[in-house]
Amino acid sequence: MIKIAPSILSADFVNLERDIKKVSSADYLHVDVMDGAFVPNLTIGAPVVKSIRKCTDMFLDVHLMVDKPVRYVEAFAKAGADLLSVHLEADHPTRIAEALKIMGDCGVKRAVALRPITKAEAVLPYIEQLDLVLVMTVEPGFGGQAFMEGQLETIRQVRAIIDQYNPACELEVDGGISPKTAPLVKEAGANVLVAGSAVYGAVDIPGAIQALRGIV
Ligand code: DX5
Ligand code: ZN
Repeated sequence: MIKIAPSILSADFVNLERDIKKVSSADYLHVDVMDGAFVPNLTIGAPVVKSIRKCTDMFLDVHLMVDKPVRYVEAFAKAGADLLSVHLEADHPTRIAEALKIMGDCGVKRAVALRPITKAEAVLPYIEQLDLVLVMTVEPGFGGQAFMEGQLETIRQVRAIIDQYNPACELEVDGGISPKTAPLVKEAGANVLVAGSAVYGAVDIPGAIQALRGIV
């Protein structure tokens, strides 16, 4: 089943509750956390996730684009995240493993994220304990960027690893997803599609979510 995860990075932060309600027909709510170091942009922290948790029952998929994410996992779990993804490039493997362990101890779903430069095999040491792998289809940091077609091969390779070692694990893609690119990533094996501008830039938001699912 294809799941759609609207990214609130493209929402109006002054009217965040209103904009979260607008995407209630989607499956996950994607929350982009950026620290101004791992990526050049700065966004939101755990207090905002705590407030979001109070205004929606949606599954909160929190994407941590931060250096040394192990420092923040517990805070975001306590704030109400349902799933946390940490970037494999953001710390040493032992600290990534530690971050995943804390997620498990806190009862949140565990995910790792891959920048475009990172090879699919990088997930191998963790794959059996993951609930989701996030493959970036743009350089992380900003919404509204062009989809990187070269990432289709990485998606295919991660799909093959998931099918072999942990078929229950989900495969999420993030960046430049539109009605045009959605069929390509689905064909390559993705089952969770993050979309910021393609959802919040649409006049008919529920219609845009259905279009990304492939139901027009
Ligand atoms: C980019 C973020 C994305 C972003 C996607 O670093 O991780 O989640 O919001 O935006 P679009 O769908 O506009 O490319
Ligand atoms: Zn994201």
